[in-house]
Amino acid sequence: MDIAVDPLEGTNLCATGVSNSIAVLAASQPGGLLHAPDCYMEKIIAGPACRGALDLDAPVAENLRAISSCLDRDVSSLTICVLERPRHEKLIDEIRKAGARIRLIGDGDLSAGIAAAVRGAGVDAVFGTGGAPEGVITAAALRCLHGEMLGRLIVNSPELEERVSKMGIRGSKRIYTARDLAPGKKIIFAATGVTQGALLSGVRFFGEGFRTHSRVMTRATNKVTFVDTVHMVRPAGPRGVRLS
Ligand code: FBP
Repeated sequence: MDIAVDPLEGTNLCATGVSNSIAVLAASQPGGLLHAPDCYMEKIIAGPACRGALDLDAPVAENLRAISSCLDRDVSSLTICVLERPRHEKLIDEIRKAGARIRLIGDGDLSAGIAAAVRGAGVDAVFGTGGAPEGVITAAALRCLHGEMLGRLIVNSPELEERVSKMGIRGSKRIYTARDLAPGKKIIFAATGVTQGALLSGVRFFGEGFRTHSRVMTRATNKVTFVDTVHMVRPAGPRGVRLS
């Protein structure tokens, strides 16, 4: 099997108790997940309605117009999630100029990417540059959710160029779709909330144990399963366990 894990996506979010930190794993058959180098990836991620409508090389305003037309909504009603980084200043400026709303996040473009493919999660798209390994795991989730994703590795030094080519990746300027990043026919994706989030509750501790909330998605069966688990670490006291 191919397995991609991010045991703690959003390390800073967890350390500071901010929402949307998750533990995540994607698995597929051999060759089903791209072995991405640990570098940056330029990404656009949106929901199933936007499939085939986006272009990583198009101006920001054009992609926003495409998303608004796919969702049949005004650009001014779109919420675009962007990692708050100096490298995104121009991008943020262009999104604002085009009239869309911005949600700046400190970390965690993986959970933001999943949110973009889930209706009602309050994010219409994710734009910008984040980790490439996170990009592959996002693509695995998006394949299960039939969402839209485009990504391009940022290979900006001879050392990285050499590393990428040793990993068998040819044409580092290539634009990858979700299918290119996670080509497996069978994909399983699982995420567990660490801190409270839009898609998953965080880990909740009570005296005798803790409770976790996970989402398991499978591509072959088109299923999304939510798992709510109480983990007992010692016997409950005389009053029993309070589950809510
Ligand atoms: P970590 O949990 O590994 O710290 O990653 C968090 C994250 O925000 C990812 O979601 C994102 O893809 C990447 O870091 C962005 O990298 P950088 O912090 O270098 O801009």
